[in-house]
Amino acid sequence: MLTWDEEVKPSLPKDLPQGLRHPSNSGAPVARSSEFPTSQIAPQVSSAARTLDDGAALRPAQAAVPVAPAAHRVKAADKRIINGQTDVNQLVPFKYKWAWEKYLATCANHWMPQEVNMTRDIALWKDPNGLTEDERRIVKRNLGFFVTADSLAANNIVLGTYRHITAPECRQFLLRQAFEEAIHTHAYQYIVESLGLDESEIFNAYNEVPSIREKDQFLIPFIDAISDPNFKTGTHETDQTLLKSLIVFACLMEGLFFYVGFTQILALGRQNKMTGAAEQYQYILRDESMHCNFGIDLINQLKLENPHLWTAEFKAEIKALFMKAVELEYKYAEDTMPRGVLGMNASMFKGYLRYIANRRAQQIGLETLFPNEENPFPWMSEMIDLKKERNFFETRVIEYQSGGALSWD
Ligand SMILES: [Fe+2]
Ligand SMILES: [Fe+2]
Repeated sequence: MLTWDEEVKPSLPKDLPQGLRHPSNSGAPVARSSEFPTSQIAPQVSSAARTLDDGAALRPAQAAVPVAPAAHRVKAADKRIINGQTDVNQLVPFKYKWAWEKYLATCANHWMPQEVNMTRDIALWKDPNGLTEDERRIVKRNLGFFVTADSLAANNIVLGTYRHITAPECRQFLLRQAFEEAIHTHAYQYIVESLGLDESEIFNAYNEVPSIREKDQFLIPFIDAISDPNFKTGTHETDQTLLKSLIVFACLMEGLFFYVGFTQILALGRQNKMTGAAEQYQYILRDESMHCNFGIDLINQLKLENPHLWTAEFKAEIKALFMKAVELEYKYAEDTMPRGVLGMNASMFKGYLRYIANRRAQQIGLETLFPNEENPFPWMSEMIDLKKERNFFETRVIEYQSGGALSWD
């Protein structure tokens, strides 16, 4: 047990490969908050300071606490998603009500991993005849990707995105989202621990399994770019860099890279196998579809406020990223399902990934990338849409819903 007298040593290895060591940048030490540029905060602080200084000569000498004139109060119309000049510390007046409503909905869906009973999963995993080798491979590869993926997502928000977003309603959602990513990492760790898997093997999969490593290597440069302490929005180039990062995370990571893994575990659950893990994945899928939808709203609002960023060249670049992401996720599907399993095979995922990529592209205003693709897994859509799958989350939704706040319309 750790006592207060013991020195707490860092538990992370220092020799991780370049680019995977820390999202902030190729192994460089993480900047302290005091080292972060204050460009997004400074305008508010300095403009308040200017107001106080300017008024100093007009105030009586005994006025110890100067106040800002009412004319300087935040107006909703002045708020902006990026490069805003309004006070980020004032949540109201609301401008982006969609962000606030999504924040309320995510809070109404709060859950914790240890509330899910894993007894049946443990018994099935320990039974030599409980699962086939292909099914075991799916579970291990799945956890191998997800145990680190949600940490990447959380770091991307906390060290990158959050600083650059100047709408307090959106920051409020991002704070909740960051906590949910922590809950997801907790859920995957809880499954690994419950099943007694080799933690080192699972947590190092993103360094050691090529199909997982390639997905993360695709993502990490986009985290590095916006979490660099010297990165600032405010120029055409850096605003496009931020927009690109938001698209990669909402549409390609949360909106595409998660879906082969989710489908596989939920397919096991539909066959009454690994039902505890499947239940955890259902809650995670519900959270992730909200993150993805929030991200898409954020992207579209940012585009609306900055239409000059959406150039033909930029769109072509985004389209190429979509194509690359589909290719990487398909490789992952082939690696996790070298043979047909659970009534699914890798080639079915080719159609599914193209179908999802089309949907994500349309959601941010790009044309369809792969015409005439149909969804080979309609039951997945039903799981995402609670109104169609009434029994799915019913107990949990009622249990957690506070004051009728939850609406899926
Ligand atoms: Fe997550
Ligand atoms: Fe997420």
